[in-house]
Amino acid sequence: MQAAMLIAIDGPAASGKGTIASRLADAFHLPYLDTGLLYRAVGLRAGAAPEDAAAAVARRLDAADLADPALHTRAAGEIASRVAVYPGVRAALLDFQRRFAAQPGGAVLDGRDIGTVIAPDADAKLFVTARPEVRAERRWKQLAGQGEAVSLDEVLADIRRRDARDSGRASAPLVRAADAVLLDTSQMDISQSVEAARRIVEAARGRWETSRPG
Ligand code: CDP
Repeated sequence: MQAAMLIAIDGPAASGKGTIASRLADAFHLPYLDTGLLYRAVGLRAGAAPEDAAAAVARRLDAADLADPALHTRAAGEIASRVAVYPGVRAALLDFQRRFAAQPGGAVLDGRDIGTVIAPDADAKLFVTARPEVRAERRWKQLAGQGEAVSLDEVLADIRRRDARDSGRASAPLVRAADAVLLDTSQMDISQSVEAARRIVEAARGRWETSRPG
């Protein structure tokens, strides 16, 4: 039987980390949590509320809230990154994410602070990125597929603004963990990205299986 494995995937907006994470979860038969959905759900419900009120919304969140299709809109991404700045919101979402990561069979989580804050002891850590122009094009196609009419330039501006906010915040900023493997998917399609990620995970697994007793 395959040993339990915890995989942490971080990276900036529209880097492809969500697709990679869900494909890895399928390949390794692990449960998957897209932690961005938590922030998107809080953002949509809290709007421009102050920190205390947004944290109260975060404490009341339940699994059904994560199935709302509105979480995948452009507006939800923007409002998510605004509430994600609040330490009170992040603290309210911490336990749920840590418990998900601690499942005995292992798990895959993706977000901004998985390898640094949520699961610093993960068995495999990836930092997935791509050039902003490439990410903007991917997100633009995704939004167009959902019926959101927006220009490529607007999506690129959204991404740059969100990257700056996520990287610049004081609480759990977007940063590559020292032991995360960098995967730049600028020149890769989905299947190449997933294959590259799978190889990184296999290599990490080879390392910890030989270093752990039993
Ligand atoms: O899909 P995309 O990369 O555009 O965004 P997402 O992963 O759904 O995350 C939306 C926003 O939530 C991000 O811009 C972050 O501000 C915030 N977030 C975070 O702060 N920490 C996480 N672990 C996940 C998301």
